[in-house]
Amino acid sequence: MDNVADDFYRELPKVELHAHLNGSVSFQTMEKVMKRKPHLNIEHHMTAIGKGQRRSLDECFQVFKVIHQLVDTQEDILMVATDVIKEFAADGVKYLELRSTPREETKTGLNKKNYVETVIGAIQQCKEEGVDIDVRFLVAIDRRNGSEVAMETVKLAEDFMLSADGLVVGLDLSGDPTVGHGKDLLPALQRAKNGGLKLSLHLSEVASQLEESELLLGLPPDRIGHGTFLHPDVGGSQSLVDKVTKNNIPIELCLTSNIKGQTVPCYSQHHFKYWYQLGHPSVICTDDKGVFSTDLSQEYQLAAATFGLDQQAVWALSKQAIDCIFAPEALKQQLRQKWTELQPRVLK
Ligand code: IMP
Ligand code: ZN
Repeated sequence: MDNVADDFYRELPKVELHAHLNGSVSFQTMEKVMKRKPHLNIEHHMTAIGKGQRRSLDECFQVFKVIHQLVDTQEDILMVATDVIKEFAADGVKYLELRSTPREETKTGLNKKNYVETVIGAIQQCKEEGVDIDVRFLVAIDRRNGSEVAMETVKLAEDFMLSADGLVVGLDLSGDPTVGHGKDLLPALQRAKNGGLKLSLHLSEVASQLEESELLLGLPPDRIGHGTFLHPDVGGSQSLVDKVTKNNIPIELCLTSNIKGQTVPCYSQHHFKYWYQLGHPSVICTDDKGVFSTDLSQEYQLAAATFGLDQQAVWALSKQAIDCIFAPEALKQQLRQKWTELQPRVLK
């Protein structure tokens, strides 16, 4: 990690809604996985983007390929998932929605079903150990893999939604935004929605996807990942913005990820400003805290420093994120209670 955030941001209770499991693996955990597989000759600069460095979006997706080579057994998944959950908890995150794409690795016996079971096992293990964080899981569809795999993934997610004690709450659509078209995935996403899975979709992450965004917003999704190019100032359209605001669809905003992946030129031009000024539900998230060498406290601090938010405004921002979680109302109430209890200690 490049920096450490100030005490206020680390003590601030936080909600993390956009975290890809394999993108969230820390330097320390990566070290452990690399030691298990020295023959792969993978070094840290191949799995993380350090301070001041930028990569093209395409290069970012190459990084995920390297990480997937390293994290390819059930033991690996269990270790990275428990470490990631504990790290978020240590950073003051009280509620986490983790997302990951189920994978198959024939040579290690990893399959999509035991992949999801292992992540759920990690969540349960952390709970049993008393780690102070509530975690839910979103099953991810990699758009690169097309409509058939998307439909299989939805069926898998449906099974786990019914069998995993409420830990699986939704579906994510992610993967290289320049590959494939959302229209092919609509039937799978529609089925998921009808079956009660919540939808968080990466949308307009790159420019010129107006048609796809219109189509996907028609579902409508329950949350939007990035939404970088939705608004008219950056080539989006008022009609897209109206769809988002009319349906009050929260947006997950990941500042450092967008700067390091070069879809946004600098912090001050991040679209957080557009949505926050509209008064639209805007949730600060990390995306891939390992790959982008950050944590949620730093992302809050960066947003505050860049857009001039005082501590009251930062507190309101973190509390408002509770409204946007996919877990049921009872858990929202518990989290609001937690924020109320912590307020006198944190917001001095
Ligand atoms: P995993 O699903 O746990 O293996 O996490 C890594 C995967 O998340 C990548 O292979 C992508 O499919 C997805 N991902 C991570 N970050 C991004 C992003 O910024 N945009 C789109 N997809 C992403
Ligand atoms: Zn993402």
